[in-house]
Amino acid sequence: MTEMQSGNWRRVCKTEDIPLLEGRRVVVGGFYVALFNTEEGFYATGDICPHLGGPLSDGEVAVKTVVCPLHARKIDLASGEVLNDELPRVATFRVRVEGEYVLLDTSTLSSRLAGSKKCFAPQEQRDEVA
Ligand code: FES
Repeated sequence: MTEMQSGNWRRVCKTEDIPLLEGRRVVVGGFYVALFNTEEGFYATGDICPHLGGPLSDGEVAVKTVVCPLHARKIDLASGEVLNDELPRVATFRVRVEGEYVLLDTSTLSSRLAGSKKCFAPQEQRDEVA
């Protein structure tokens, strides 16, 4: 089994749902997850900015970063590192494309996001996935 086959992969949207250099929020397992379509491929992070909780999926996407729409903290999408502040990293998750779908490795969702109450979606928003 290769590294990309291990994990708990789940379809979360179609590739066409996220235009290039944009992000989208999905709710998976009750958690807010941000998906980004960049020139280097798709990335997934928690969707809550570690500064004051802004929605990263609404941020400005560049080559491999997103800038939070509220106060411009810049997040590296591969590492989750906040590049212009001393804030905790944003959780990152593995993604891959299979045909027309974007798949997310959900095996680390709860362990990486459970500490942030803001990452829990209200019940009526849960599991809105492709
Ligand atoms: S909430 Fe994201 S920079 Fe302030």
